[in-house]
Parts: sequence; C-alpha cells; structure tokens
Amino acid sequence: MATTSDERRPVDMHQSPPLDLSIPYDPAWVKGRTILVTGGASGFGAAFVRKWAGHGATVIFGDINTEQGDQVARDVQKETGNKNVHFVHCDVTDWQSQVNLFKEAVKLSPHGGIDTVVANAGIAKTDTLQFPRDLSVAEPKQPKWPMLDVNLTGVMYTSHLAIFYLPRNPGSKDCNTDSDPATTPRDRHLLFLGSVASLMGLPLSPQYAASKHAVLGLFRSLRATSFAQGIRVNIVCPYYIDTPMMPTVLRVVIAGGGLGKVEDVVDAATRFTADSRVLGRGVVVGPKIKLTPDHNGELKYHGEDADVEAAAVWEVYADDFQYTDASVRAIVNTLNAVQKARGWIAWGKDCLAALAYGVGLGGKK
Ligand SMILES: NC(=O)c1ccc[n+]([C@@H]2O[C@H](COP(=O)([O-])OP(=O)(O)OC[C@H]3O[C@@H](n4cnc5c(N)ncnc54)[C@H](O)[C@@H]3O)[C@@H](O)[C@H]2O)c1
Repeated sequence: MATTSDERRPVDMHQSPPLDLSIPYDPAWVKGRTILVTGGASGFGAAFVRKWAGHGATVIFGDINTEQGDQVARDVQKETGNKNVHFVHCDVTDWQSQVNLFKEAVKLSPHGGIDTVVANAGIAKTDTLQFPRDLSVAEPKQPKWPMLDVNLTGVMYTSHLAIFYLPRNPGSKDCNTDSDPATTPRDRHLLFLGSVASLMGLPLSPQYAASKHAVLGLFRSLRATSFAQGIRVNIVCPYYIDTPMMPTVLRVVIAGGGLGKVEDVVDAATRFTADSRVLGRGVVVGPKIKLTPDHNGELKYHGEDADVEAAAVWEVYADDFQYTDASVRAIVNTLNAVQKARGWIAWGKDCLAALAYGVGLGGKK
C-alpha cells in the first residue's frame, strides 16, 4: 500500500489516505501510458519528459519555446531510444493553441488517448503590483497580469481540456484508490504544479503567489469531485528549486537556506503519475533535510550529522486535505437532510420556481 492506515481514509470520499512516502513505487509503472506536459522545454517539464520517456511512456509536450522544445525532443529520443517523444508548439494562454496540443497528443498516442496531463507551464517575473510608479498622472494605466495569464488562465484551460480528454481515453480505467498500479497501468490523472507560494505568501511576488494559491484552490476543489469522471488529481508544490526560473537575485536572497533539486520534484511527480492508488494528495518538495516526527508528531530537526535519513518530499496539510472535504461533505449531508425533511412537494415547487426563473419569470411564485 502507498498509504499509512485505512483508519485515516475519509468516509465515503474517493480520495486516498495520507501518503507514506517511505513506501517505494516503481517508475516503470508509467510504461505504455501517454502523458501530456505543458511547459516541457525547460526545468521540471523537460526533466519529466526525460524521466517518463526513459521508462517507456509516450510523452507529448507543449511550450512557447520552439527551439528548445525541438531540441529536448531530439535529445530525449536519442538518450532513451524512445521515439514516442514529441514536441508541439503551444502557448498555454491561447485556448486554441492548447486545443491543438491536446488534439495532436491524441493523434500521436499509440492507443489513441491521454492517460496523464501535467499542468506545468508557469512563469515568475518581476511583480509590478506593489511598486507605485508615476503618482502624478490622473489615473493609472490598466495593468497586465502575465503571471495570472500563464499560471492561472493557462492552467484552467489545461484542466478544462484534461477533464474533456482524459475520460475519452479508449481502454483506460476509472481511477480507483484500491487499484494495483502494477496491473492497472492506464488510468486518468491530472497533476498540478503548485509552489510553496500556494501555501504561503511571497512578500515580493503577490501576483505569483495569488496565481499559485489559485492553483491550490483549483486542486482542492476538483479532487473532491473528479472521481466522477474517473480522474484522479494531485499537486506537487516545490520550494525554490534549481531551474532556469530561479533568478540570480532570488538565489542571493535565499542563500544559506539551500535550493531544492529538480530530481526530487521529478521523484514526487513520478510517484503521483505512476501510482494509480494516489488521489487528492499534495506534497511540498524542498532541499533534503534531516527531520523526524517527535512523540507529538511535530517535526524535529536533527542537524546534518545526525544518523537520520534526509528527505526532500513531505506531504503538506495531509489532514487538512481530508477535513476540508469532510466539511464539504457535512454541507452536502445537511442540504440532503433539509431536502428530505421538506419532502418531495417542496422539492417540486423549488424546481418549478427554478424553471420559471430560467424562462425569464424569475421572482413570480
Ligand atoms: N523552480 C522553482 O523554484 C519553482 C518553485 C515552485 C513552483 N515552480 C513551478 O514549476 C513549474 C515549472 O517551472 P520551472 O522551474 O521548470 O521553470 P522553467 O522556466 O525552467 O520552465 C517553465 C517552462 O514553461 C514555459 N512557458 C512559459 N510560458 C508559457 C506559455 N505561455 N505557454 C507554454 N509554455 C510556457 C517556458 O518556456 C519554460 O519552458 C511552473 O509552474 C513554476 O511556477 C517552480
């Protein structure tokens, strides 16, 4: 099992219990799957393409950087001997461009469907929100929000298309937290790339933090219902990791704290992608550190020389993920109970009122 205890499994929820990251998974479980990655020409995206192609998956990836995308596809084909690695130009902020990426992925997929979608493309730029400029003008110019465009609208488009294409996947199975990943190699999976900025504020990057908080909100909401379409959703929230996204100035700001490693983000994303039992979970990935829980469950730092295994991947807010959904369940249960108490006649009246509202007779009872 990939999990600690069935006692912690939320009642009636189609979501797996908190992860036990000490239990190994096999990256070879991705073999034969078709995986679509946005922003695959650099950083995590390119590393996912490499890793999953190396384990026999078909990988179709989109990016605005055509030159680098073509190069990554050529390099990965050569390194892995896997010819099923394809780059498609895609601007995630452009709906039609993403539609084209998904259509191409279906065409290029050996089994005619998409098994996993990774909403990875993202940007971090200098934030213009908090720095006042010319205060002498009568009114400020309308701002542009490039980080919301890519990190939020782009991810919303990817999610919308994933929810359309993942269930139209011939021969795939509905997600199932009790499935055996070794014998159920093809299910339907949507993986988000959040950030520590999904979990905390970033003083110099409010727009980036807002976009990544939004991605977390999207994940938390979808994971409660996506099982209805047979789709499992998960999220990886990296801390500062050594990719081209990290500008020198930020590297200086966090000097001493340590940068995380791309390979640990790839490990977390591969666990989620490979292990069909994991649904609705989130991890944070940072620099490797020696921590163990004390008797109260609080994490304790042991110092670099301690005889404790260092870890870079931690499940975050594991219980919060469950109890949030428990509260949602309570709301649904309450509504159901009220409806039951009021009976079918009241239900029928409400439906008629709703229909009247729909044909422009709203307000008339
Ligand atoms: N590196 C970090 O420290 C870090 C930390 C937390 C979260 N993240 C997130 O991880 C994801 C990947 O980041 P990375 O570190 O690999 O960065 P990266 O800059 O190396 O890669 C991002 C890729 O996205 C592509 N991209 C940008 N705009 C695009 C668009 N409109 N359409 C299609 N592709 C586009 C870029 O061309 C690039 O290839 C992002 O969502 C980022 O926010 C990164």
